[in-house]
Amino acid sequence: MSGHTPVLLQETLELLAPAPGEVFLDGTTGGGGHAAAIAARIGPRGFLVCADADPSMLEIAGGELKAFPWVLLVHADFADLDILREAAGGRAFDGALLDLGISSLQLDDPARGFSFREEAPLDMRRDPGGGGTTAAEILRDAREKELADLFYRFGEERFSRRIARAVVERRKREPIRTTTGLAELVSSAIPRRAWPRDIHPATRVFQALRIAVNRELASLAAFLDAIPRHLSPGGRVAVISFHSLEDRLVKTAFRRQAAGEGEGEATLERMTRKPVVPSEREARENPRARSAKLRAARRRDGGEIA
Ligand SMILES: C[S@@+](CC[C@H](N)C(=O)[O-])C[C@H]1O[C@@H](n2cnc3c(N)ncnc32)[C@H](O)[C@@H]1O
Repeated sequence: MSGHTPVLLQETLELLAPAPGEVFLDGTTGGGGHAAAIAARIGPRGFLVCADADPSMLEIAGGELKAFPWVLLVHADFADLDILREAAGGRAFDGALLDLGISSLQLDDPARGFSFREEAPLDMRRDPGGGGTTAAEILRDAREKELADLFYRFGEERFSRRIARAVVERRKREPIRTTTGLAELVSSAIPRRAWPRDIHPATRVFQALRIAVNRELASLAAFLDAIPRHLSPGGRVAVISFHSLEDRLVKTAFRRQAAGEGEGEATLERMTRKPVVPSEREARENPRARSAKLRAARRRDGGEIA
């Protein structure tokens, strides 16, 4: 087992309905939990492209998925749909899944800097070998207002301004380089009586930095914009999100595409009006599932797209 429990697995399978011989995309392979269930359903006549931007996750998933030779692992951002379609031999997808965010396997690896539980450099890049800006560099270089906006927008952090001020004061004296250093700094900037009851006081700031470092919303927006063109007629797309900004992007994109806005042609129809959320039991058993929201849409049969 990969140590990561797939979120909303049954609900996702019901909506995506993978059938024998179909071509599928898992854009966020992670530990391969959803992918294994899809691979089993499409069977050896089917084909599953499994993408992840994090090479270490593909290594783990490779082990989990080796029983399915009709799975192809691809190191790519899920927004690069042209590359992923090429990996499927140019065929359109009968189904595509995104399960956003990070896997508990990434969170639990202290060296990645995603978690405040153990001391580690503040990196947070999904693909540390691929260049890009680290969380420590953002904390070093961004202006106070930029930091406050980032914590507010991507973390929905009420104390964003106080935290940004504390970061700027601290970095005048010493660089903020470690996860635990940042976690202490954030905790001390939030009045103790306002500390959240169910999460660590630094959770929102860590989430905000991760979203900024990996440009998560830009990738999601690009995927949502392009996916209708890469689905076969009747092809399904499902997205599991964990954050209101992500969910809003998904909801708006599906609604627009269903109304035919922008394209001049209705391309998708919504399969979920309201997001599907975990059962009480799943939320109890898997804390990561608590904020999950699943939405799905289907390409109309006669859609006028390539
Ligand atoms: C929540 S995990 C997926 C877990 C997976 N569904 C499972 O059952 O094991 C999200 C994964 O998506 C990857 N990821 C996030 N954003 C990505 C992007 N823009 N492109 C490619 N992979 C991405 C992360 O590296 C992570 O491995």
